Amino acid sequence: PAPGWTSTTDVVVVGSGVAGLTVALNVRKAGLRATVVTKAMLDDGSTRWAQGGIAAALGEGDTPEQHLDDTLVAGAGLCDTEAVRTLVTEGPDAVRRLIGVGAAFDLDAEGGILLTREGGHHRRRIAHAGGDATGAEISRALVAAVRDDPGIELIQHALVLDLLTDSEGRAAGLTLHVMGEGRLDGVGAIKARAVVLATGGMGQVFSATTNPAVSTGDGVALALRAGAEVTDLEFVQFHPTVLWLGPEAEGQQPLVSEAVRGEGAYLVDADGNRFMVGQHELNELAPRDIVAKAITRQMQLKGTEHMYLDGRHFGAEMWETRFPTILASCRTHGIDPVTELIPVAPAAHYASGGVRTDLRGRTTVPGLYACGEVACTGVHGANRLASNSLLEGLVFAERIAADLDELHRAGELPERTVDVAAARAAHAVPLPAPEARAEIQRLMSRGAGVLRSAESMAKAATGLAGLAEQARAHVAEDKPADPRVETWEAANLHLVASALVAAAARREETRGCHWREDFPERDDAAWQRHLVTTLTPETG
Ligand code: SIN
Repeated sequence: PAPGWTSTTDVVVVGSGVAGLTVALNVRKAGLRATVVTKAMLDDGSTRWAQGGIAAALGEGDTPEQHLDDTLVAGAGLCDTEAVRTLVTEGPDAVRRLIGVGAAFDLDAEGGILLTREGGHHRRRIAHAGGDATGAEISRALVAAVRDDPGIELIQHALVLDLLTDSEGRAAGLTLHVMGEGRLDGVGAIKARAVVLATGGMGQVFSATTNPAVSTGDGVALALRAGAEVTDLEFVQFHPTVLWLGPEAEGQQPLVSEAVRGEGAYLVDADGNRFMVGQHELNELAPRDIVAKAITRQMQLKGTEHMYLDGRHFGAEMWETRFPTILASCRTHGIDPVTELIPVAPAAHYASGGVRTDLRGRTTVPGLYACGEVACTGVHGANRLASNSLLEGLVFAERIAADLDELHRAGELPERTVDVAAARAAHAVPLPAPEARAEIQRLMSRGAGVLRSAESMAKAATGLAGLAEQARAHVAEDKPADPRVETWEAANLHLVASALVAAAARREETRGCHWREDFPERDDAAWQRHLVTTLTPETG
């Protein structure tokens, strides 16, 4: 439908996790108005679910250089070193500024920030809050701060449909569907001087994921439809230790943080053998891809659907104080980690790739920025180091705000003129049936999950092409489009799944979190490079 209303702001931010809210708060310091558009409630995205913490060289004896080294090793040859250097050097102060906004981290008796370890880190450098509820605390503090600022407009329950561009092809706002809250309702448009994507990840492309239901790849889909470059999509990180709830479990699954291993829990098979010992110098704290692969191999070897995490030696008091969230979620599902082994298996967790940006967060479409999980700034390479994601969201959000500030001061951030109705028509998208979501997830989990091969991915690609055909037939029959959120989410999931499979099929090697059964070796000569996706008839 055509937009029924138009609103105007300076910077429109899509998404309300750590990245989006940090952009909004920081552009206000530059005197710009911000509008935050979010699909559900402000704290419904992934940030709230982050457990382990936020990594930064804050501890005595630790340095950004050591953090850089660990990040580069995890990234398996595909990190952009300058982007990582930016992350690790600006990280410690960004965390301190977050504390200034009101986030209360766990402190020791002297008031110093308590730090834990996670996979791939050679030092204790993960700051945490509420024991294992770091994201919830960060989200709480940022939501309170944006609510306090009358210069930030908050639009909840609003699905962004498409980007608006002006006659020069610059991002100039977006169209959106607001589902009945506040002064705006129905399909409308927001005009802006700049657009920032901070929509989070795409874990819902797979059947089992740690991501909440809203993580449907909306930002990547939007960017692709707007002509932006997307990169490294094949590098989907599977978290090694997700509570195993049975073979049919679908949707968001409970995470068992790496920090549990960081504090000394063991990975064991059903016979109690610590199978990570001898596989890597860091044993259970090897980088995440190595642990996920080892668990998957062990499951294949033993013919089981999960392995176990053993934290019984922690005792009840430590579980209750250090990991209250995980303890509660295990007990809800009938497992008591104080006395029992925790069944765990890998599940989709994080998109290391995304919308390609430079160090200022600029995408390849002028005026369009991206930060947080939706972006590919180059810091993660082929596999993100644990707890670098909240940090990336923070650091690059601040950099985007600084860039907008600089442009504004230089008079290079003018109001844009856009023909809303014409722009909307140009971006019409065939919408699949909302039920396509479950089919996409099944196809992707079977064909492009932890283990991939040309054959498995060809099956996924064929299934996805069939769903696209059905959507096109629907349009050809002139059936009325069903503009429900579920329909748009299915369209976005379909687009990002198709692009992901295409990239994963092209990369004929095993590297980081991309594991090809048919190409089991890393091949630097042919593949130490990035695959860039733009929208083509095949991916569309
Ligand atoms: C965790 O707590 O294990 C998740 C940390 C992360 O994904 O960085």
